[in-house]
Amino acid sequence: MDEKKVMLSGIQPSGELHLGNYLGAIKNWGARAEEFDCYYFMADLHTLTVRQVPAELRRHTLEQLAIYIACGLDPEKNTLFIQSHVPQHAELGWVLNCYTMFGELSRMTQFKDKSAKHAENINGGLFTYPSLMAADILLYQPDFVPVGEDQKQHVELTRDVAQRFNNLYGETFKIPEPYIPKTGARIMSLNAPDSKMSKSIPEGCVFLMDKPEDIQRKFKRAITDSDTEHCVRYDPQTKPGVANLMSIYAACTGRSFAEIETEFDGQGYGAFKPAVGDAVIEMLRPIREEAQRILADKAYLEQVYRDGAQRAGYVANKTLRKVYKKVGLVAR
Ligand code: TRP
Repeated sequence: MDEKKVMLSGIQPSGELHLGNYLGAIKNWGARAEEFDCYYFMADLHTLTVRQVPAELRRHTLEQLAIYIACGLDPEKNTLFIQSHVPQHAELGWVLNCYTMFGELSRMTQFKDKSAKHAENINGGLFTYPSLMAADILLYQPDFVPVGEDQKQHVELTRDVAQRFNNLYGETFKIPEPYIPKTGARIMSLNAPDSKMSKSIPEGCVFLMDKPEDIQRKFKRAITDSDTEHCVRYDPQTKPGVANLMSIYAACTGRSFAEIETEFDGQGYGAFKPAVGDAVIEMLRPIREEAQRILADKAYLEQVYRDGAQRAGYVANKTLRKVYKKVGLVAR
């Protein structure tokens, strides 16, 4: 039998997902399950490295899980779980802490950035975050770890730690490859088209759970450009705002830039901007409704994450037992 390659990714449930996350990445994740055996988990333990409001962390974790399902991650075809529900993460994390060097952890750019940003709370967890992430990954013996640019260094460190452990104790961990996903559209802020859409500029950011009237307002206020031509034409150099709206419209409708130019020929931005807003509203409507439906159905959501934790735990436990035995811990 042809075994599928394994893919794993963790998602920090720290904030709200937006249109840029969806069109740039999440939209394509559902289809991966055809080719790969996929694990996705809400990395709730990782969020504790920065102070959280407990009730919000709980809400974000469940909301994020519901949104991913609504975006097409089918829990029957993917293993979806919550990191803290599989205790092997914390257990292997401890062991790997003892095989990760102080110097290596000190060189992590995310540690340096986050300690600068949270100077009042540079805790041990922030420092050893990459060993926990290595444990997250290595427990499942994945072939691929899809990550963004900012997490590549952590995957490199994971490979080094795995290699070190294998050299000491014999083949234990598969050495995972970072997987640079095919990127979807790169969506920019609606009111600052030279920056990526981000929750740090909320007025230029369309959240997946935004109400239709909020989405329409954000599009009506979107920056177009300052030239006098006032026509819908794709030119990212001189008309970055219009080009961004066209990319969004293209992604929602499947139309080409040429088709969009024809569609709005002779019409100004006054017609174009609300049309993009409507297209986004219609694309997001089923996602929002489905996420709300799932969130309201506590029993279903519970069943998804229990089932996911059970499947993940089975695999994780096999790896952990092997590791414990190799390093000399007495079997239970
Ligand atoms: N550190 C990742 C981030 O901040 C989240 C994460 C935790 C992760 N564990 C992981 C990603 C394991 C991939 C694999 O985005």
